[in-house]
Amino acid sequence: MSLPLLRTRIPGPRSRALARQLRRVENRNVTYTSDRWPIFWQRARGANVWDADGNRYLDLTAAFGVASVGHTNSRVAAAIRKQAGTLLHAMGDVHPNELKLQLARELVALSFGRWGCRPAAPSGRRVRARGLQNYARVLFANSGAEAVEAALKTAAVHTDKPGIIAFGGAYHGLTYGALAATAREFFRTPFIEQLGTFVARVPFGTIPEPIPYCGAVLVEPIQGRGGIVVPPDDFLPQLRHFCDEHGMLLILDEIYTGFCRTGHWFACEHWGVVPDLICVGKALGGGLPISACIGKASVMDSWPESEGEAIHTSTFLGNPLACAAALASIAEMKRLRLWERAAKLGAHIQQRLPMRGKGLMLGLEVGDAPSVCERLLQRGIIAIPEGEQSEVLGLTPPLTISQRELDFCLDTIEELIR
Ligand SMILES: Cc1ncc(COP(=O)(O)O)c(C=O)c1O
Repeated sequence: MSLPLLRTRIPGPRSRALARQLRRVENRNVTYTSDRWPIFWQRARGANVWDADGNRYLDLTAAFGVASVGHTNSRVAAAIRKQAGTLLHAMGDVHPNELKLQLARELVALSFGRWGCRPAAPSGRRVRARGLQNYARVLFANSGAEAVEAALKTAAVHTDKPGIIAFGGAYHGLTYGALAATAREFFRTPFIEQLGTFVARVPFGTIPEPIPYCGAVLVEPIQGRGGIVVPPDDFLPQLRHFCDEHGMLLILDEIYTGFCRTGHWFACEHWGVVPDLICVGKALGGGLPISACIGKASVMDSWPESEGEAIHTSTFLGNPLACAAALASIAEMKRLRLWERAAKLGAHIQQRLPMRGKGLMLGLEVGDAPSVCERLLQRGIIAIPEGEQSEVLGLTPPLTISQRELDFCLDTIEELIR
């Protein structure tokens, strides 16, 4: 446990020099650079990050919600090292590796396996492996957006309808299928002529009218990049009811909210809602890129049996290194009971500051969040803005952050926004 230690003005000379060099070789749209931004990360552990100038920061972002088990978690790193000496890459959909099987089993058990026993079993309880085939199937991918693509295709295959209902403020990623479902005009406008028109949009928190060409509803249980927006308590249960009534699929995008972040393994458990398909990513790999669409067997089995050529796959599908990292990361979540920790620390924060959200997925309206984030960086705290107008300060730290570290961040935030 350690608090920020700044040796230079921020960003330090090395970070500035690296940023100048990066601008010459990276697409200029990617890394925002100014006098006050960015720092170059050199190493990280737990909630601590060291930059190229030797400054130490506290990370309130878990680097986009990924480092839930802490940065460079030693057990995850050990699993990666071990696997790296054995097999880095296999042939995902042709000649796979056993770790893909193990991870698929684990994902089915953690999601539909647990939900299969109603009421939902307490977080972490296992269902016996031999019963798993009744519950669900997994379709692996590499990024969050790709998991959403897999869900969109699954919905089309299962329902025979092209349309999807999505919500205002939604963020589902930036590949073309996912972007069609993402709401923010900033991301959509430059590509609007290329976007599919299969998405109907309704305001977040409202129940849609049935639309004949739509076979599924895609929703984040709590909107993340849209500004940490928690819907009314009856929203998800009513949406489930709506989908059941009209024979539609409920697809939950739990890429941000999943894996203990909100105080349960998955956010849908706050409302006791079981989806038909769930998309996961981010924290799953403990720092390596891996994602998945997990679906009820009855839905997933609408895909035709492979006869030698999969119609939806990719080169790195079920990559052994990423699977090893994911298995170790899930084991850490269980060992450290991170769903409990997220709920406890989240309650502590909300006692101090009136933030919205659940567990350690919290947001505070601050007006000009980018400027608050720049000032926080000067004080040794890494944070990023959320919300359509960048009006929300997001607080999604590693779930392993200590209360002392959190209190330091809260003191600093209070001082800055006062
Ligand atoms: C809810 C949600 N869905 C999808 C994505 C896209 O994930 P990726 O950036 O890994 O493609 C994100 C990323 O922030 C997200 O928050």
